[in-house]
Amino acid sequence: MDPIIAATHADPYPYYAQLRAQGGLVFHPGLNMWVASSAQAVAAVLAHPDCHVRPAQEPVPKAIAEGMAGQVFGQLMRMNDGERQRCPRAAIAPGLELIDAQEVEALVSARLMTADAAGLYNAMFRGPVCVVAALLGFTPAQGRAISELTADFVACLSPLSRPAQLTAAHAAAEQLSGYCVELLADSDNHSLLLAGIRQRFASGAPQTLIANLIGLFSQTFEATAGLIGNAVLALIQHPSLHSESTPIEDLLAEAQRFDPPVQNTRRFVAAPCEIDGVRLNAGDVILVLLASANRDPQLNDNPDTFLLDRPNRRSFTFGAGRHQCPGQLLALSIAGATLKQLLAMEPALDQLKREYRPSTNGRIPLFSD
Ligand code: HEM
Repeated sequence: MDPIIAATHADPYPYYAQLRAQGGLVFHPGLNMWVASSAQAVAAVLAHPDCHVRPAQEPVPKAIAEGMAGQVFGQLMRMNDGERQRCPRAAIAPGLELIDAQEVEALVSARLMTADAAGLYNAMFRGPVCVVAALLGFTPAQGRAISELTADFVACLSPLSRPAQLTAAHAAAEQLSGYCVELLADSDNHSLLLAGIRQRFASGAPQTLIANLIGLFSQTFEATAGLIGNAVLALIQHPSLHSESTPIEDLLAEAQRFDPPVQNTRRFVAAPCEIDGVRLNAGDVILVLLASANRDPQLNDNPDTFLLDRPNRRSFTFGAGRHQCPGQLLALSIAGATLKQLLAMEPALDQLKREYRPSTNGRIPLFSD
């Protein structure tokens, strides 16, 4: 086991506990990076001004730098620090937090869902991006095309992607950009979310706005699929939760802490500094184990127990600090509405086979019949 393999291991949590016992922030010679595993170290790294989201010498991964996916990547708030993060974030984050849960529920229930593995796949990997597209004012047909393109685009974010996938990611970035250009030119657009974003982004470069609209799709895609999938797994593993009296909101609140879809993120040290009592040098890489921090007894009492009514639940699943996920409420509403609709069809969940999608940081189950 290592901290990257852990993300898709059947049960990484005993291993995370071993890492925490060795110290909150420890160098891993095999990976040639620091590993932050305790809640205290994870919080300190995410809060530190010298811990950046990209290495200074490679703001865009070399493998995609020459194409359209690289151009989009280079402008994402998620992949920048300083003004290039703050400016798009200030325009986009406020509207995401104001989205009405009932509107999300209506959008989810307008989509056809079936009770088999194919239906679950669509509910996890197509539905959430369709909801975000609809909130921005795209038609349902455009939303379906955008969700397919997003599946191709996100390959550019993974180091595991093969050259053919990267070629498809560049093509998808071109097309997604085309959809966004048309959206912004459409004088008939009635989306409140888009209107607010445009108003707050008035002085920014249009390409930056377009890249960050694409970023909303790519940030939604895998993480929300993982949240829905891991909540389904929790229902399979804890059959007593599978009852009409279990509030879906409570199930999701604990599932996101207990088994997060984004197990880890990375930071790159930009200047010599001391974090959690450890000296770090410019150029050091830190693997930040969000999922391990959630199971730290210093953060949550009795952390390995799945408790629907956990008092004072604390979680790093959506990050912390400057880059903390602005889509948390939206993701929880989409996942909640999706699960309600799915469970109403009484699917035979325990008969589904499952494996994790190959990933270095995502814990996203794939179900099959
Ligand atoms: C369960 C679903 C989701 C999870 C677990 C999740 C998790 C995260 C995490 C951990 C980060 C911070 C990464 C880091 O600091 O390295 C992040 C950032 C971000 N997320 Fe989410 N996310 C989810 C859904 C969404 C959705 C639905 C949206 C928008 C529609 C969204 C938009 C963003 C954006 C724009 C950022 C970058 C923020 C910044 O860099 O300032 N996320 N997310």
